[in-house]
Amino acid sequence: MFPLIFEQVSLGLNSQPKLLLDSINVRIEKAGTLLILGPNGAGKSLFLRLAHQLIKPTQGQISWAIPSKLARQQQAMVFQHPILLNRSAYANLEFALKLKNEHTKIEQQHLIEAMLEQMNLQEHAKTSANVLSFGEQQKLALARAMIIKPKVLFLDEPTASLDPSASYQIEQFLSEVATTSTKIIMASHDLNQAKRLADQVLFLHQGKILEHTEAALFFKKPQSKLGKLFLAGELLWKDNRSLL
Ligand SMILES: Nc1ncnc2c1ncn2[C@@H]1O[C@H](COP(=O)(O)OP(=O)(O)O)[C@@H](O)[C@H]1O
Ligand SMILES: [Mg+2]
Repeated sequence: MFPLIFEQVSLGLNSQPKLLLDSINVRIEKAGTLLILGPNGAGKSLFLRLAHQLIKPTQGQISWAIPSKLARQQQAMVFQHPILLNRSAYANLEFALKLKNEHTKIEQQHLIEAMLEQMNLQEHAKTSANVLSFGEQQKLALARAMIIKPKVLFLDEPTASLDPSASYQIEQFLSEVATTSTKIIMASHDLNQAKRLADQVLFLHQGKILEHTEAALFFKKPQSKLGKLFLAGELLWKDNRSLL
């Protein structure tokens, strides 16, 4: 289904003269984990929402190598705040598999049990999702996304509100996902986590792409002045330095 191509993509609001995303041109290939980096308000979440077809651009084209409806069916997304069904952990995973409609009941059971164990949630199979801790809820959201073995997993700052232990478990799981055929496209403002997970980096600032490059290069020698400031922890969205 790759490459994913953005051609002259812009996103604006009628009420605002400034574009939220401005003339995005990017080609995303299948290999490697892609981290979307940038300060708060840079447009990371909007970029992911466009790619996952939750919103439409006001200008330009976004295309996959296969029809967009088919592409959408092979993707999953995890948000910063988990969105779950008000049912047991088991039922949340079962629901995702039932929608996929590819497995017998017994196969579903095996997949769900294995996934709960992998996420260290096996004791919570029958627990209602809304009484799980925030970290457990996020692990469940990730489990539900991955149980359908998507070709693309979009993640929007999935560990931003988690304690270090839950954050670590999720990162470990994502490292494992990265070795499978699922492509990770993840927004983050946690530079240390990004350094650990990224193969490529897409660096956004004020709705524009300033860099799209190999992660090692970005972290060692960012090409843009704003990239350097960002890595030094000195870049804010309101920054008006005219370095662009
Ligand atoms: N629904 C919306 N209405 C108005 N402005 C929005 C909306 N969603 C996002 N924005 C604005 O678009 C910019 C980019 O937002 P976002 O993609 O959420 O940034 P990031 O995820 O990088 O922090 C921000 O300035 C934000 O305030
Ligand atoms: Mg965001």
